[in-house]
Amino acid sequence: MSPTKRRILVTSALPYANGPIHIGHMLEYIQTDIWVRFQRLQGHECIYVCADDAHGTPIMLKAEADGVTPEELIARIAVEHRSDFDEFHISLDNFYTTHSEENRECAENIYNRLNAGNHIVRRVIKQAYDPVKAMFLPDRYIRGECPVCGTADQYGDSCENCGSTYSATDLKNPVSAVSGATPVERESEHFFFRLGDFEEMLRIWTQGDHVQSQVRNKLKEWFDAGLRDWDISRDAPYFGFRIPGEKDKYFYVWLDAPIGYQASFSNLCSKSELDFDDFWGRDSPNELVHFIGKDILYFHALFWPAMLDGAGFRKPSAVYAHGFLTVNGQKMSKSRGTFITARTYLDHLNPEYLRYYFAGKLNSQVEDLDLNLEDFLARVNSDLVGKVVNIASRTAGFIKKRFEGRLSDDVFDPEMYDRFVAAGERIADHYERREFSRAMREIMALADQANQFIARHKPWEIARDPDQGAYLHDTCSLAINLFRVLMTYLSPVLPVTAGRVESLLNCPVSAPGAWTKLASPLVGHPIEPYQHLMKRVESKSIQNMIESSMNEPEVNTPPAPNDSVDEDGKHIGIDEFAKVDLRIARILDAAHVEGADKLLKLSLDVGDHQRTVFAGIKGAYEPQDLTGKMVVVVANLAPRKMRFGVSEGMVLAAGGGGRDIWLLSPDEGASPGMKVT
Ligand code: MSP
Ligand code: ZN
Repeated sequence: MSPTKRRILVTSALPYANGPIHIGHMLEYIQTDIWVRFQRLQGHECIYVCADDAHGTPIMLKAEADGVTPEELIARIAVEHRSDFDEFHISLDNFYTTHSEENRECAENIYNRLNAGNHIVRRVIKQAYDPVKAMFLPDRYIRGECPVCGTADQYGDSCENCGSTYSATDLKNPVSAVSGATPVERESEHFFFRLGDFEEMLRIWTQGDHVQSQVRNKLKEWFDAGLRDWDISRDAPYFGFRIPGEKDKYFYVWLDAPIGYQASFSNLCSKSELDFDDFWGRDSPNELVHFIGKDILYFHALFWPAMLDGAGFRKPSAVYAHGFLTVNGQKMSKSRGTFITARTYLDHLNPEYLRYYFAGKLNSQVEDLDLNLEDFLARVNSDLVGKVVNIASRTAGFIKKRFEGRLSDDVFDPEMYDRFVAAGERIADHYERREFSRAMREIMALADQANQFIARHKPWEIARDPDQGAYLHDTCSLAINLFRVLMTYLSPVLPVTAGRVESLLNCPVSAPGAWTKLASPLVGHPIEPYQHLMKRVESKSIQNMIESSMNEPEVNTPPAPNDSVDEDGKHIGIDEFAKVDLRIARILDAAHVEGADKLLKLSLDVGDHQRTVFAGIKGAYEPQDLTGKMVVVVANLAPRKMRFGVSEGMVLAAGGGGRDIWLLSPDEGASPGMKVT
């Protein structure tokens, strides 16, 4: 531990308030939390804040689709996010929201200062506008044919088929994803932040130790490409903060999102003794550390330091980016059941398993990380249950039964104990540098040594010989001491188990400063009866989790630019299926259609009304045989204009076509209008 007590303010990226936390997000929150807990364990002051990112078009539209106000939506999501974080033991000091008075103040303050410094300019731009919905359309809400390869139904900014990126105005036959209308171009005045004003400062800042080396290279590319002005305003309707002094102009969500770090901290200050300027003042001697995913680097390594600098605040000490989570080697996918929400995970598995698994794979690089579920089961069971917990479960009982729960006065092998303590320096260094996988490897190598020690001395055999009491006492006591050291090293990763071990050993394991206390072993020290510490992972639980994930309702949010779900299109979710309105109908009348080879025109009684449907069943049925028959129809299929008239639905049939068609006739007793379930 460094002799001086550090004061560190740490953040994780703010999750969007329009959907659930998933295990991809959890990679970030767990990474941050382990680092934060490690700092506290070292005796440093480490404050960890986060918030929901509550503004923007997707949230506005989702609230509308759900029939609630945006405020109601974000309040509901905040409750869910909070409990997800709590149950994963993310030790936030404050979890707040960007839709708060503090954030409005902080955002207006930064904007006003940037404006006063002439870093904001106004320009009229042309943008796609939805004339039906009366709103400007973000690129993600425009779909059309790719201008490069012609693939249909692509987003306004990039093609999923050929990977080209383009501007929404280049899309062919564009439609608004909000209303289906054809967008028109419209002019509007926008506000821009002149990022280029900060190029010199940013070049110097990014050359420092504030970012990872890989990131430094990426930034160099961005500098070479030129720093462009950043559009920070959006027109009404928008869910966000109005720009001071303007009518119907709002801050773009990404302007006030990082400012949410300040707002959450400011809110914490109002509830504690903390002082805002101690951490944000231009000359703050304290640390400001941001953990983020690689997809939001541009915002955190360029815009954010520039905004802070331009507004007279300190810049971040560090921005640490991690890679993305894949599951079983692929993007998380609903149809494969690997789009696992935090909630679903918690319903089936112990959060500490995932914390350990992630720790075992995380390093300081911007690398993607794979959660392989077989490997997950094997590692957790062999390392945590088989190696670590095992040390205590094989030895603590003897201390209780034979020695009145008191550890020996002697250290059986002081050199071994000292070796374990000395390893702490390397392990601490790995934690500090976010090389968690190295830390876990060292800890497990020590656990192997502890187990070998037990296997060599075989307490269960010595215990049978009444003359070997002291030997039994000393070896078991050393094993318990080694266990204490290991659990202290693991406590940033396994805070709950560490808490249990604290009660078992009557000594701090995860408390601030516990690490430095390891130098003195526990001698003549009372311990409590051993109680179960951790169960094995059952493969059944993993299977159940995958199944539940498949059955989960679709999150009806338009994908964000960084959406990591792979909707592979081969499967539909139960929710999508539920959208199909299947009904029983009676054929009132059937007739030939002039000029059509396959079609019959059917008049259907769908319960409360009649409809016309053109069905390709002429090859198999004579019109007169159909009258009175019951069929299943897709009642909510969009009406389709055909050469012969409008078809208002679809009749379900089986078979290959021609004569080979069978209408799916429901059982007798069914009546028109009944829902098919
Ligand atoms: N709201 C913005 C961040 C604003 S910060 C001022 C945002 N939200 S998010 O919900 O999409 O993502 C939150 C964090 O989770 C981001 O750092 C993002 O990189 C991370 N992850 C989201 N999906 C992820 C994976 N599949 N894997 C790893 N991290 C992932 O971006
Ligand atoms: Zn294309």
